[in-house]
Amino acid sequence: MSSLVETEKLGENPFARLLYYPRVNRAELERRLTELKALEVSAVELAGEKRVFDVHVLGKGCVGIVVVAFRRGEKVALKIRRADASRSEMQQEAKLLEKANSVGVGAMLLGVSDNFLVMQLVEGRLLPEWLDRIRAKTRIRKVLRKVLEQCWSLDCAGLDHGELSHAHKHIIINSVDQPFIVDFETASLCRRTANVTSVCQFLFLSGSVAEKVCGSLGKANREAIIEALRRYKSEKSPSSFSNVLASCGLLDYV
Ligand SMILES: Nc1ncnc2c1ncn2[C@@H]1O[C@H](COP(=O)(O)OP(=O)(O)OP(=O)(O)O)[C@@H](O)[C@H]1O
Ligand SMILES: [Mg+2]
Repeated sequence: MSSLVETEKLGENPFARLLYYPRVNRAELERRLTELKALEVSAVELAGEKRVFDVHVLGKGCVGIVVVAFRRGEKVALKIRRADASRSEMQQEAKLLEKANSVGVGAMLLGVSDNFLVMQLVEGRLLPEWLDRIRAKTRIRKVLRKVLEQCWSLDCAGLDHGELSHAHKHIIINSVDQPFIVDFETASLCRRTANVTSVCQFLFLSGSVAEKVCGSLGKANREAIIEALRRYKSEKSPSSFSNVLASCGLLDYV
């Protein structure tokens, strides 16, 4: 079920409550409608598996609500800053996403304002749901390898995502098995990078996703992975990264 709502109509309920979630303030709403027009967002499509106030959306987090939108005739993802978000603007997240994009990672940034981030729409499933549906081991290994490669690119770029040890909602796999890491809102160019180590922990060592991966691919060699990560941490190099891929059983899955 989905419905298209033109930007002019977003000031009316129930959509107004999405634009300035969870409360509605007329003046702020008007400001946000003006920002949307400047970003050339012509309509929002209320689609997706999550629901906010009975309206379908792509996702809801602590900072934003993400919906499908139309910009210049194309479908995009629109992240709307929540009224109760701990951030006062979206520009910082945009800057970090742009940095990720520069090394081929993340949904492409298309526009930003104080309250909105416009980016490439990733149509697919979050990694845990994707793992529940896919049985083919080679497909799973290829996708996991791509995730690790993206994390290596982020490590090399000095950009730490910050939430990859708990990435249940931060990796989306599209219909052609391309993974996308989303949400660079808590990323940093100042912290020591830990993307590869965090994502390996998440995918192979602890928690419900690691259990799913082990269930699909067989038991991970924990000792080998821990040792490879220890080496990688002390020396980030192509060879120590290859060693991590090998310990995770992904070296041959390009
Ligand atoms: N570009 C995109 N294309 C499709 N869906 C997306 C996109 N970006 C985000 N989403 C969906 O929206 C959800 C929320 O996005 P995001 O994680 O950026 O919001 P957040 O408020 O920062 O969340 P959190 O509180 O978990 O940090 C994601 O988990 C994902 O399901
Ligand atoms: Mg976030």
